[in-house]
Amino acid sequence: MDELTRRELLRRAALLAGAPIALRSLSGCQTFIDPAGEFSVPAPTNGVITIDPRHYPALTKQGGAIFLRPEPATAGSTAISPILLVQQSGTYFAVGGICPHSSCELTYVPSDKQVECPCHGSRFASDGTLMQGPAATGVPSYKVTVDSAGHVLITLSDNVLQIVGGKITFPISQFPSLETVGGFQRASASDGTLLLLTRGNQATVSAMDAHCTHAACTDNWGVVDQQLVCACHGSAFKLDGHYLSGPAPAGLRSYSTTFDGTTVVITLA
Ligand code: FES
Ligand code: FES
Repeated sequence: MDELTRRELLRRAALLAGAPIALRSLSGCQTFIDPAGEFSVPAPTNGVITIDPRHYPALTKQGGAIFLRPEPATAGSTAISPILLVQQSGTYFAVGGICPHSSCELTYVPSDKQVECPCHGSRFASDGTLMQGPAATGVPSYKVTVDSAGHVLITLSDNVLQIVGGKITFPISQFPSLETVGGFQRASASDGTLLLLTRGNQATVSAMDAHCTHAACTDNWGVVDQQLVCACHGSAFKLDGHYLSGPAPAGLRSYSTTFDGTTVVITLA
């Protein structure tokens, strides 16, 4: 989901309002859930993580799941959110591995055919849709394909921007959503860094790391009333990433960006 409509953000805010009650009613009654085996995998190349499923015995079983932690592309670069990869009826699906409620690691429960959170019982469908709270939002889902050699390819982003000499350069026309003031676009850099791009005014394009500074949600962003809103728990930021309100402790990490009216240059330092 690249952008959230105002209606959807308001719906999520309404769900958030009920979360503490749901949490109280569920605490202490969750059942034990087996965690998925956890593995480190190389950073994505051009937005794609590739694994050989033959190296992961859990994936040979119906309903088998593994929890993948992609390595950062370079020392010191932002960590990429973990992914839960599941084999179901001979095909695969992949969703974000972190629960948007309180950041527990998700796992798959074959008997329920759902992604579930062992902490307070949130449940998600195989496409990341929220099935049961207390989480207020779903989790991201990723396209998964299998190549002719049997490798599993997980595509984190189709909007991959190449880094050359530490910089990203692209024409503003590449993203029509940024041609209007208040516009918003998600993208990823070729080293896997997830980006939020915004058009703050006629002369300014901003680029920020997509990890919310509250609990690192990356996929529930939208623009409402000229504010960048993380719908996981309702933090709001200016379009240049400065903190405005909500549980986030600070503004978003922003990258130095220039815009001459035609071309955007982002320096990833
Ligand atoms: S962390 Fe509370 S339901 Fe997942
Ligand atoms: S992760 Fe909690 S408000 Fe964004």
